Amino acid sequence: MCAYLYEKDNYDIFLTRDCLAYSKVKPAVNQISTHPCFQRDSLVKFCQKHGICVTAHAPLGGAAANNECFGTASCLDDPVLKELAAKYKRTVAQIVLRWGIHRNTVIIPKTAKLERLEHNFQVFDLELSKEDV
Ligand SMILES: NC(=O)c1ccc[n+]([C@@H]2O[C@H](COP(=O)([O-])OP(=O)(O)OC[C@H]3O[C@@H](n4cnc5c(N)ncnc54)[C@H](OP(=O)(O)O)[C@@H]3O)[C@@H](O)[C@H]2O)c1
Repeated sequence: MCAYLYEKDNYDIFLTRDCLAYSKVKPAVNQISTHPCFQRDSLVKFCQKHGICVTAHAPLGGAAANNECFGTASCLDDPVLKELAAKYKRTVAQIVLRWGIHRNTVIIPKTAKLERLEHNFQVFDLELSKEDV
């Protein structure tokens, strides 16, 4: 059985701890918003320590519309990530996605553009140094 944690704002560390304490079936997956500009390291590590797979939704920092709506900056405009993209001769999106894979999260980027979809898959041959991760 796949116990899937899915709520509007998903399960933070307190809800996940509660869930582990009270549920009869251990959750398999916690799908949370996380990306380099919103790392949530304690929650990711807590889930992984307890054998819960973390799926990163909005792994590129979310839709442009969300950023406009909430006044947040897009991860893809981050200057440090732009520097890394130049260093590895990749795009910022590829650096961001590879970072998600490096930390053992499942990533589910969304795009409505075919060329970006293809491009977003081209991250499996990219190795970031430990320091850069
Ligand atoms: N469980 C939940 O509560 C929850 C919440 C939110 C989202 N999700 C899921 O998570 C997935 C992704 O979420 P999301 O769409 O909010 O965030 P996202 O994947 O981080 O970002 C999508 C945005 O990035 C753009 N993009 C994609 N590839 C790009 C690239 N290579 N270069 C530049 N821009 C790029 C897309 O624009 P274009 O389309 O124009 O390319 C779109 O504006 C979706 O499947 C969604 O259903 C789940």
